[in-house]
Amino acid sequence: MSSINYSEKIPNNVNLSEDRTLQRALEHWQPNYLSWWQDMGPEGSQDFDVYLRTAVSVDPQGWAQFGHVKMPDYRWGIFLNPAEADRKIHFGDHLGEPAWQEVPGEHRANLRRIIVTQGDTEPASVEQQRHLGLTCPSQYDLRNLFQVNVEEGRHLWAMVYLLHKYFGRDGREEGDALLARRSGDQDNPRILGAFNEKTPDWLSFFMFTYFTDRDGKFQLCALAESSFDPLARTTKFMLTEEAHHMFVGESGVSRIVQRTCQVMNELKTDDPKKLREAGVIDLPTIQRYLNFHFSVTIDLFGADQSSNAAIFYSSGLKGRFEEGKRSDDHVLKGEHYKVLDVQDGRLVEKDVPMLNALNEVLRDDYIKDSVGGVGRWNKVIEKAGIPFRLTVPHKAFHRSIGTLAGVKVSPEGHHISDHEWNQRVEEWLPSDEDRAFVASLMGRVVETGRFANWIAPPMMGINRQPVDFEYVRFN
Ligand SMILES: [Fe+2]
Ligand SMILES: [Fe+2]
Repeated sequence: MSSINYSEKIPNNVNLSEDRTLQRALEHWQPNYLSWWQDMGPEGSQDFDVYLRTAVSVDPQGWAQFGHVKMPDYRWGIFLNPAEADRKIHFGDHLGEPAWQEVPGEHRANLRRIIVTQGDTEPASVEQQRHLGLTCPSQYDLRNLFQVNVEEGRHLWAMVYLLHKYFGRDGREEGDALLARRSGDQDNPRILGAFNEKTPDWLSFFMFTYFTDRDGKFQLCALAESSFDPLARTTKFMLTEEAHHMFVGESGVSRIVQRTCQVMNELKTDDPKKLREAGVIDLPTIQRYLNFHFSVTIDLFGADQSSNAAIFYSSGLKGRFEEGKRSDDHVLKGEHYKVLDVQDGRLVEKDVPMLNALNEVLRDDYIKDSVGGVGRWNKVIEKAGIPFRLTVPHKAFHRSIGTLAGVKVSPEGHHISDHEWNQRVEEWLPSDEDRAFVASLMGRVVETGRFANWIAPPMMGINRQPVDFEYVRFN
């Protein structure tokens, strides 16, 4: 079951050839997917041979095979983790019943919405990143960008498979719509806000893969608990790919910080102006990018109080992060949770029914996880003997969704006036000038083993290859 059949047009481990109707429907969607990739995938890269990993099995050991491939020939396919025998629903009102192998009629609309919303983020990020290859800081980084892109493409395949197999005609229509929406488009945008933002430069890309791909991890973890077993099995395999995306983000930011600190010590200055003249990104600018990506990403978890979140949980569609490791009753009726509110110009905590606050529960789990990498970036700064520390802003800072939408809060968590916000916003969020400066550094470095001046080389290469390995062959 876990080995993947590559002899078919669509590689898969789901015995696709036994379901002719489904196979035909997906083979019909496949050319549309490829034409979307041609139009919206990495710009100007179709002929490059890229050192990519491809899934060859879903076993935790050795699922990846590395080799140079042209991206349009990447073997996108359908891979599910093996089924767990007699898997039971382990949270919500159906606790203890057998997991569903088909979609229950009463949950059909909600499940479809959940799958479409997840599916929509996958091509969106490819679209957001499509110009970055033109300004890559090295072949190594270019390869990592492309790896992330092809895997997001595969994640789209994963969701489209579920739509085609379990949702009939509506599912096929949703599959087509996933190829029709465009990130940032006025008329037909992607579903979620952060996926319509631009990813214009590599600092944004690394922040995005650190923070926003981590939102992906938490959403996928919640869906991996789902009572709808095919969704659980699909998302479990997607998670194994997601880990690399977050690695790209964490190590990318870390290498930028490292290079900046090196130049700060060489020039014995922390003056952003001098550092910018020396062609590196000053730490306060990195902090502003961090503030932006963190705040935009935590909005993705949705409103702090949501009756939908309660329904999704109680009906068993979407669990909590690490549901199986928690020791409560997994039904949560009568439980409470603290969310933030604004009263008399101050942020206060208030108790609300936990079922309605499950978006906030997931957001808080996410925040705990994302703080870890920031601590590791600070270790780099500390090691360089520099007294600056990066911080994660308060969760009420710069929010656009839920109770805190539009409330003006400083990164330290103080409720402030519109006037103070307007006066200080350029200390806290990237200004046009910051973005223009970062953009000015983005020149294309593609000679094997060379790196742009604003980023340190990585400690080691991909798949134990040397750092100066030929990760991309330009034809
Ligand atoms: Fe993804
Ligand atoms: Fe990802």
